[in-house]
Amino acid sequence: VWVVDNIVDKQQIYPQIQEAAEWLRTGEVVAFPTETVYGLGADAANTTAVEKIFAAKGRPSDNPLIVHVASLAQVESIAASIPPVAKTLMERFWPGPLTLVLPKRDGAVSERVTAGLSTVAVRMPDHPLALALIEASGLALAAPSANRSGRPSPTTAAHVLADLNGRIAGVIDGGPTGVGVESTVLDCSGEVPTILRPGGVTKEALSEVIGRVEEAAGDEQTAPKAPGMKYTHYAPKAPLWIAAGPPSFLQRLVDESRAEGKTVGVLTTEENKNRYVADVVLACGARRELETVAQRLYDVLRQFDETGVNLIYSEAFPEEGIGAAIMNRLRKAAGGRVISE
Ligand code: TXA
Ligand code: MG
Repeated sequence: VWVVDNIVDKQQIYPQIQEAAEWLRTGEVVAFPTETVYGLGADAANTTAVEKIFAAKGRPSDNPLIVHVASLAQVESIAASIPPVAKTLMERFWPGPLTLVLPKRDGAVSERVTAGLSTVAVRMPDHPLALALIEASGLALAAPSANRSGRPSPTTAAHVLADLNGRIAGVIDGGPTGVGVESTVLDCSGEVPTILRPGGVTKEALSEVIGRVEEAAGDEQTAPKAPGMKYTHYAPKAPLWIAAGPPSFLQRLVDESRAEGKTVGVLTTEENKNRYVADVVLACGARRELETVAQRLYDVLRQFDETGVNLIYSEAFPEEGIGAAIMNRLRKAAGGRVISE
C-alpha cells in the first residue's frame, strides 16, 4: 500500500507514485484512486499486463476496459478520429467522470482492452494521483474498477484490499473517492451520442452542452452496447429488494420478512433512518443532496455484508440528475428485484 496524502502539490514528485509507475512499466497491475471509484490499472498496450487485470478481478474477457489518459495527445494516439461532439465534451467535462467511446486506432491498445470491438473507451480522470500516475508511467492505463467481478465497486483503498489483496502489485491510497459511482459511458462513434452507462456526468449536463443525447435501452435481454452492463454487478451478499413506495410500505415488507424469521436490513437515508424498525438500518447519504447518496452507496452495500442480514430492502430514488446513476446501480445490485406498492 502506497499512502499519499490527498492534498496534492502538483509540483511535487512522490516516490510512492514513481514506484507504482515502475511496476506498471514492468507489466504489473496497480490500483489507484480516481474521482469516481478506485481503478485497477495496467499498460493498455501490453496484452500480458491487461490479462492480469482480468485474472485479478475474475472478469469475463468479453467485457472491454476503459483507457485512462492524462493528455489530449494520448487520446489522439489511441483513437482513429475524434468526432467534433467528443471534442466539445472533452473541453467541457475533462478531466472528469465522462468516458467517451471513440473509433479506435488499430494496434494502439491491446485487443484484450477493446474485446474485439472497433471502438475504444477513453477517459481523463479528475484526480491528481491518477493523473500523476499516468504521467509518471508514460502509459495509457487500461483500468476497470478495482473490485472482484460482481462485487460493489471500491471507493476506498480498504475496499480494494478486501477484494484483491495478494492478486495485485499494490494500491495507492488517496483516501475515499468523491463521486462514488463510476463515470458516464457515452458512445460517440455513431450518429447520435448515446449513454451506455449513466454515471458521474448527468444526462441533463450533457444535453446542455451538445443537445440531443440518447439512452441505450436498459433491456438486459437484448445485446447490450456496453457489454459490462449485462452482468450482475455491485451485489451485496444478501438479496436486495428495492421498495418503490413510502417508508410505511417498506416497513410493512420488513415486518412481513421478520415475521418469517428473517434478519432484515434497510438501506435508507439520513432523512428517513429513524422511521424504520429492523435488524440493521444503514443511512446512505441525504436525499436532499443525492450526490452524497452516490458517494456512500457502495460502502453501505459492503457494510451490509458484515452484518449478516438475510435480506435487504432499499428505498428508491428519483431518477433525475445523479439519481439516474444511483438507481441504475441499485437495480443491478438488486438483480432487477423491485417491489411496488
Ligand atoms: O469511473 C469509471 O469509469 C471507473 C474508473 C476506474 O475510471 N472505471 C470503470 O471501468 O468503471 P469498468 O471496466 O468497471 O467499466 C467499463 C464500462 C463497462 O460497462 C464496459 O462494458 C464499457 O465501459 N466499455 C468499455 N469499452 C467499451 C467500448 N469500446 N464500447 C462500449 N462500452 C465499453
Ligand atoms: Mg466495474
